[in-house]
Amino acid sequence: MLFLLLPLLAALFPGGDSEGGFEEPVSFYVIQTSSFHNHTWKHLGSGWLGELQTHRWNSSSGAIIFLYPWSRGNFSNNELMDLEKFFHTYFTNHQGFYISQLMFKDSFDLQVILGCELHSGKDFVGFLQIAIQGFEFMSFQNETFFPSPKGGEKAQKACLLLNLSPAFKHTIHKLISDIFPRFTLGLLDAGKTYLQRQVKPEAWLSSGPSPEPGHLLLVCHVSGFYPKPVWVMWMQGEQEQQGTQRGDFLPNADGTWYLQATLDVAVGEAAGLACRVKHSSLGGQDLVLYWGAPHRPLGLVFLAVIVALALLTGLGFWLRKYWTHREAPSSAFLLK
Ligand SMILES: *[C@@H]1O[C@H](CO)[C@@H](O)[C@H](O)[C@H]1NC(C)=O
Ligand SMILES: *[C@@H]1O[C@H](CO)[C@@H](O)[C@H](O)[C@H]1NC(C)=O
Ligand SMILES: *[C@@H]1O[C@H](CO)[C@@H](O)[C@H](O)[C@H]1NC(C)=O
Ligand SMILES: *[C@@H]1O[C@H](CO)[C@@H](O)[C@H](O)[C@H]1NC(C)=O
Repeated sequence: MLFLLLPLLAALFPGGDSEGGFEEPVSFYVIQTSSFHNHTWKHLGSGWLGELQTHRWNSSSGAIIFLYPWSRGNFSNNELMDLEKFFHTYFTNHQGFYISQLMFKDSFDLQVILGCELHSGKDFVGFLQIAIQGFEFMSFQNETFFPSPKGGEKAQKACLLLNLSPAFKHTIHKLISDIFPRFTLGLLDAGKTYLQRQVKPEAWLSSGPSPEPGHLLLVCHVSGFYPKPVWVMWMQGEQEQQGTQRGDFLPNADGTWYLQATLDVAVGEAAGLACRVKHSSLGGQDLVLYWGAPHRPLGLVFLAVIVALALLTGLGFWLRKYWTHREAPSSAFLLK
């Protein structure tokens, strides 16, 4: 079955090092944040396929909310209900565990991440990590809970108690090492049209805040592309400009990505520079934008203004004609 998966993974995460891209690990995980303030618990839960959120958890009904039509993967309703029941029991039990057994006092925040990750393209490895007040508290490996050094005595006590329950450890192990990996494969398959979609980037240039007198910061914006791997470089002819600085990938609300690449140059050296963008959606036709060349958006605005002026002038002529024609008969009538 993993053999079937490999071509899918290759399609999902194209672009090796040669293209300046990178491989993202395939993972599915659930993030839970629980806060206990003023004697009241608040729980938030979400499910993620890598960097894409696929599920939310309705904390008042305990129901899983599926964010995409394919978020059910290939699990039956019964299996999904079993998962809901599991999370419900788990949330109820853990509330008591932290308060009455570990004696945590009002108020504290708890973060849990549990899931599975594909390692070296063949085996899924399950993981579970718990943090309290933003510090690592304990983790789960090989069916055993391990305290984190920063967790102190409370973490040691928590692990001691949890490790005494083989049934709970086995359930967690089964969840992250069997159920989640099967669910992940089903998700990758059910969502492949969406996950393998190709969305072309748009690019535009601007100048940023001047780094020093006599210098320009050239900014190349690339936005709206999917999947994430992209190559953006300032070029002088065929020469890559090593001073190009890439920003962080920022997510757009529609699931596509934004990236900018900047270059600091002396004012006289900007001529002939171009920003070059390579992306799998472009089918080898790189986007190339020349610094100083007229931008298309400006050209369009200019065109729109000309058209509007022409229309207004036309309207003016027509109105003048209309009124002169109207006036003629009425004055003739008055003269009678
Ligand atoms: C804490 O909860 C009590 C009742 O549950 C409420 O009356 C009080 O206003 C709450 N305090 C704060 C600071 O929210
Ligand atoms: C969550 O559950 C509550 C109670 O069942 C319901 O009223 C609410 O509409 C649900 N919210 C969402 C986003 O499904
Ligand atoms: C987990 O168990 C396997 C075999 O049961 C062992 O090879 C591995 O070293 C263990 N890993 C840890 C972190 O204890
Ligand atoms: C879902 O698909 C995965 C991968 O193809 C498979 O291992 C699994 O048996 C399928 N069904 C269920 C219910 O997990």
